[in-house]
Amino acid sequence: MKSPPLLPSLSPQRKRRLSSHLFVFSLVVVVFVLYSEDFSCILGSHFHYSRRAEQITRAGLLPPRDIIEEKEASVEAAAAAEEGCDIFAGEWVYDERSRPHYGEEECPYIQPQLTCQAHGRPDTGYQHWRWQPRACSLPSFNATLMLEKLRGKRMMFVGDSLNRGQFVSMVCLLHRVIPENAKSMESLGSLTVFRAKEYNASIEFYWAPFLVESNSDNAVVHRITDRIVRAGSIMKHARHWEGADVLVFNTYLWWMAGSKIKILRGSFEGDMKNITEMVTEDAYKIALRRTTKWVNKNMDPRTTRVFFVTMSPSHPSSKEWGGDPDGNCYNETRPITDAAYWGTGTSKSMMRVIGEVLGAARAPPVTLLNITQLSEYRKDAHTQIYKKQWNPLTPEQIANPRSYADCIHWCLPGLQDTWNELLYAKLFFPN
Ligand SMILES: *[C@@H]1O[C@H](CO)[C@@H](O)[C@H](O)[C@H]1NC(C)=O
Ligand SMILES: *[C@@H]1O[C@H](CO)[C@@H](O)[C@H](O)[C@H]1NC(C)=O
Ligand SMILES: *[C@@H]1O[C@H](CO)[C@@H](O)[C@H](O)[C@H]1NC(C)=O
Ligand SMILES: *[C@@H]1O[C@H](CO)[C@@H](O)[C@H](O)[C@H]1NC(C)=O
Ligand SMILES: *[C@@H]1O[C@H](CO)[C@@H](O)[C@H](O)[C@H]1NC(C)=O
Repeated sequence: MKSPPLLPSLSPQRKRRLSSHLFVFSLVVVVFVLYSEDFSCILGSHFHYSRRAEQITRAGLLPPRDIIEEKEASVEAAAAAEEGCDIFAGEWVYDERSRPHYGEEECPYIQPQLTCQAHGRPDTGYQHWRWQPRACSLPSFNATLMLEKLRGKRMMFVGDSLNRGQFVSMVCLLHRVIPENAKSMESLGSLTVFRAKEYNASIEFYWAPFLVESNSDNAVVHRITDRIVRAGSIMKHARHWEGADVLVFNTYLWWMAGSKIKILRGSFEGDMKNITEMVTEDAYKIALRRTTKWVNKNMDPRTTRVFFVTMSPSHPSSKEWGGDPDGNCYNETRPITDAAYWGTGTSKSMMRVIGEVLGAARAPPVTLLNITQLSEYRKDAHTQIYKKQWNPLTPEQIANPRSYADCIHWCLPGLQDTWNELLYAKLFFPN
């Protein structure tokens, strides 16, 4: 039943010690997460695609081959369907004609944390970059086609504020083709639901920054320095995911508060006595394994799809790309062109865990959206200071925008639309 791997498993590499950069980054993340408002705020594996395509065809998430070829036969789509194209390897191309897909003001669902133009961002270049895979082209995103495929289905994003950004991006990409009275957006606790009524389809977001249970699970009040995780405990959240036809998971940033993380055995109710520290990678592995186990038990691979979005990089220190020694992403207007660029904030050891648990060699029913490298290049795409601020700014902060620039989240429209184009490609044009 197991599909043969398309990719070799990650070659074991030398364990890399946490650098001082990573430590500094961790502090930045802690401070940021602590003081930011509700971050009304991403990883997978590879399949034997042809078999997968048959399954999805049966599930209605993909029309039969001939229909694809008739309706969608564009050079691009055909190219994307070519055997073996790694759509995550490529380059950014400036394309003012075809990007962005929508205007910031056209999409009422973007939370103020991500509306950069409305908050005074002077440049718009970050909206105009198109991802060009090296060996093929991405199929063009067709909102009508996507909604038709999602007819009668639930697509759910589960994770942290970055995943929420991707959810909002997806809603923005789809909502234009739905008449005003035929759509709705509702939030209740951890769950936000966008409905396309004529299609009986929903796109949803569920807040679970660690996927497993934690003390940061409140969708609004989760500014907690002392994070505690029940690494093997998922049912509190997962019962809300049952019945979803497409699941898109992420989890990374919340784990990165140091080299160790606090683990609770037993329940959060009561005295919470048994708390121990565990190496972050080990705890992350337990959580990802628990998620995979749930997926294996609850998601029918013949009728559903599951994705894992790899870590979203941050750009807290411009000296890493040869810039100002004291700067961050603030004032950055162009992507990094060094193809090998990888910031110190993106932990290779955490990526290794993802490969070990969700990588091709194990062939779990989870498709990886490996957006990390392509997003590493996008130092220009963060919200910087152009967002609703969390606390009133002090005079010191106003005098020094570098200290409060958000180099974690991404403006919309922007980079996360590309993540969804890649999701669209993997969902409907499996190669
Ligand atoms: C998008 O998909 C719809 C539904 O399949 C189709 O009718 C339409 O022609 C497509 N649009 C483009 C630009 O390919
Ligand atoms: C609408 O979709 C849900 C699944 O999301 C399904 O259970 C229900 O039967 C559908 N209703 C109609 C009228 O198709
Ligand atoms: C805490 O949990 C660990 C691991 O399950 C166990 O070995 C230890 O005995 C527990 N300690 C207490 C005080 O319950
Ligand atoms: C940002 O760019 C502007 C215009 O180029 C420049 O005047 C300003 O000093 C820069 N600020 C920082 C903090 O680099
Ligand atoms: C994701 O892509 C990067 C860059 O190509 C690679 O180093 C990493 O191993 C990939 N991760 C996984 C889990 O396959």
